[in-house]
Amino acid sequence: MKNILITGGAGFIGSHLVRLMVNKYPTYRIVNVDKLTYAGNLANLKDVEKMSNYVFEKADICDFSLMQAIFDRYKIEGVIHLAAESHVDRSIQDPFAFAQTNVMGTLSLLQAAKQAWNGQWEDRLFYHVSTDEVYGALKPGKELFTETTKYDPHSPYSASKASSDHFVRAYHDTYGLPIKVSNCSNNYGSYQFPEKLIPLFINNIRHNKPLPVYGKGDNVRDWLFVEDHVRAIDLIFHRGKIGDTYNIGGFNEWRNIDLIKVLVKITDRLLGRPEGSSDHLITFVADRAGHDLRYAIDSNKLKQELGWEPSLSFEEGIEKTVKWYLEHQEWLDNVTSGDYQKYYEQMYNKK
Ligand code: NAD
Ligand code: TYD
Repeated sequence: MKNILITGGAGFIGSHLVRLMVNKYPTYRIVNVDKLTYAGNLANLKDVEKMSNYVFEKADICDFSLMQAIFDRYKIEGVIHLAAESHVDRSIQDPFAFAQTNVMGTLSLLQAAKQAWNGQWEDRLFYHVSTDEVYGALKPGKELFTETTKYDPHSPYSASKASSDHFVRAYHDTYGLPIKVSNCSNNYGSYQFPEKLIPLFINNIRHNKPLPVYGKGDNVRDWLFVEDHVRAIDLIFHRGKIGDTYNIGGFNEWRNIDLIKVLVKITDRLLGRPEGSSDHLITFVADRAGHDLRYAIDSNKLKQELGWEPSLSFEEGIEKTVKWYLEHQEWLDNVTSGDYQKYYEQMYNKK
């Protein structure tokens, strides 16, 4: 495969994946299709935008005829699909947008791939990037999500991702489309939109703003460094089994309140403040509706079959991440002011 379509490549995880693929595979052509919603930011890809094996197309994956044209124009042979609405709180406010992009958008891409490849499945692949949230919520304890855990989504976000996963598998079972699916735990790292817990809280600590902890802060998430996630995607894309699902996670569970205290300490230290002096910013607020108590991933299949392991400890990853946000205040200011969108809208509407 040479012509690879990555959707959602201007987002958080997508931009890390585009960077890895463009640099690691100079003989591939990486076509990044992104609608540039509030979460998409071409500034995330400044270091690769001029590379000769990289192309950007501003497009909505829900636009089926445009997707057909893109498959045709670039002779697309492989797809890594990340484009999605990704924030649970937004899904509670506007579930329609989530059904539209995550379900109908995925269906539009599946159908475009099926038509373009027309039964010639050899060396063709549709890889769908999904989340552990489709498995629902675990009780406190040692139980982990495996690849065979029954789907039990609770939020409009996870319901829409679950639905898209089912469509991807249905295209494999019904038409024979070669697919792979991975379900990953919560990611953290650079270029994450500051509505998600970690970048939001780092930015708020810096500006002495309240840190809104939902409920009692007892919810547990399993955190993985984003560069380890995209290394896993690369490995699964090239060496995973067709039709299979892989769970991705670093066996790194944190209760929100414990994670927040660590974040406060590191951020205070890096800002030259006494460690813990920003603890007073922690503010308990009303819980998120339907808030899943605990996510935890068993990624042993990926380790045993493909030899993947996280490259960084959480201590190393979180230190690097806090440093990155503190050193990139301009990036944070741009994405919170919306200036970046105006700039790129002008640039791409001229085309
Ligand atoms: P993100 O919100 O940062 O980025 C999503 C990207 O998709 C943006 O660039 C946006 O412009 C683009 N997009 C949205 N709607 C589109 C549309 N209709 N057409 C074309 N492009 C569109 O998301 P992320 O955190 O990078 O997540 C990427 C994928 O990984 C998602 O599918 C998400 O469900 C999955 N995932 C995320 C996490 C996580 O912790 N962030 C964990 C597991 C899985
Ligand atoms: P988030 O980063 O939104 O990811 P997800 O909901 O997909 O797990 O939230 C991570 C955890 O942090 C989740 O349990 C909700 C909680 N949270 C807060 O307590 N306060 C906040 O302001 C945010 C954004 C999240």
